[in-house]
Amino acid sequence: MKHAPGSMILGIGAFAPEKVLTNHDLEKIVDTTDAWIRERTGIERRHILEKGKTNSDQAAEAAHRALKDAGLKARELDCIIVATITPDSFFPSTACGVQAKIGATHAAAFDIAAACSGFLYGLALANSLISTGFYKHVLVIGSEVLSRFTDWEDRATCVLFGDGAGAVVVGPSDGKKGILGAYMKSDGRLGHLLSLPGGGATHPATHETIDKRMHFLKMEGREVFKHAVRTMVDAAEHILKETGVHASDVDLLINHQANVRIIDAVAERVEIAHDKIFVNLQDFGNTSAASIPLALDQCRREGRLSEGDKCLLVAFGGGFTWASCLIQF
Ligand SMILES: CC(C)(COP(=O)(O)OP(=O)(O)OC[C@H]1O[C@@H](n2cnc3c(N)ncnc32)[C@H](O)[C@@H]1OP(=O)(O)O)[C@@H](O)C(=O)NCCC(=O)NCCS
Repeated sequence: MKHAPGSMILGIGAFAPEKVLTNHDLEKIVDTTDAWIRERTGIERRHILEKGKTNSDQAAEAAHRALKDAGLKARELDCIIVATITPDSFFPSTACGVQAKIGATHAAAFDIAAACSGFLYGLALANSLISTGFYKHVLVIGSEVLSRFTDWEDRATCVLFGDGAGAVVVGPSDGKKGILGAYMKSDGRLGHLLSLPGGGATHPATHETIDKRMHFLKMEGREVFKHAVRTMVDAAEHILKETGVHASDVDLLINHQANVRIIDAVAERVEIAHDKIFVNLQDFGNTSAASIPLALDQCRREGRLSEGDKCLLVAFGGGFTWASCLIQF
């Protein structure tokens, strides 16, 4: 390790909506099969947020749990960062919605849009804000309601995504535990391969944009797959090199949960043993920015994060964006 960590995770919390949609349920909606979805993606079911509930509702629930875990009060937070591509609205931000719901009266609050890499972008930012002494306690949330932006007539995408939220409270390191390094990268030239084209200033909502289904997520799956593997290998290798940690010393790999074939390909190329890979996408599908904090929460509850463990987090998403973070627990 080159530097002592400046920040560490003080608490973790997550929220998964109660309603579950299985692959068999999807067989009744589009021309697909449980076998195809399992074989091509590894996904078996996903959670769907109930009508009437918002992104900031579920994000606030995850935040409450992370604060409780950290033993902190909401008013002790200096900053709330929500990573999301499915916000409550363009503005006010989802983070401001969370702030109001949890009563974090002293915090600054804003969203970041880096798609599935958003949570790691937020964590990198929190690490910088805390390491420089600018803030003491930052709440980083990844929260998505992708079911509301999914084209339920497009079998190539609707089988992939799910809803959920995960949160961490980040604070000053104790000198041993914490974030050993963080890395962020983007390539805007490839943005068209994974996007939600309608509703922004380029294509404001009209009857035509609605008829053309432009307010739903669009993806060139096969192309995205290739770039996902390439960029996540880059992200993993970069952070290992920067922190001077060997791949064999990583205790746990948490990849963005999009496709089990992507996760396996990344682990194989970075040379991380199979028993060190965490996979929960069978139960959640791809929850974009929520995927890594949902996984972190589950790993912790299942006892897969012991004191001293080095955990490598790697993500890729629309933009394109990619990121990694190495944490010592
Ligand atoms: C989307 C994805 C699962 C598709 O798997 P794939 O093996 O690449 O499949 P293809 O897109 O090549 O499609 C193969 C066939 O299956 C069909 N197919 C697509 N979705 C299907 C579904 N849900 N059920 C059944 N068949 C399906 C296609 O129409 C195609 O049929 P054809 O050969 O007759 O044209 C895969 O490309 C993927 O995971 N991509 C990356 C997605 C991702 O990570 N996105 C988020 C990044 S954060």
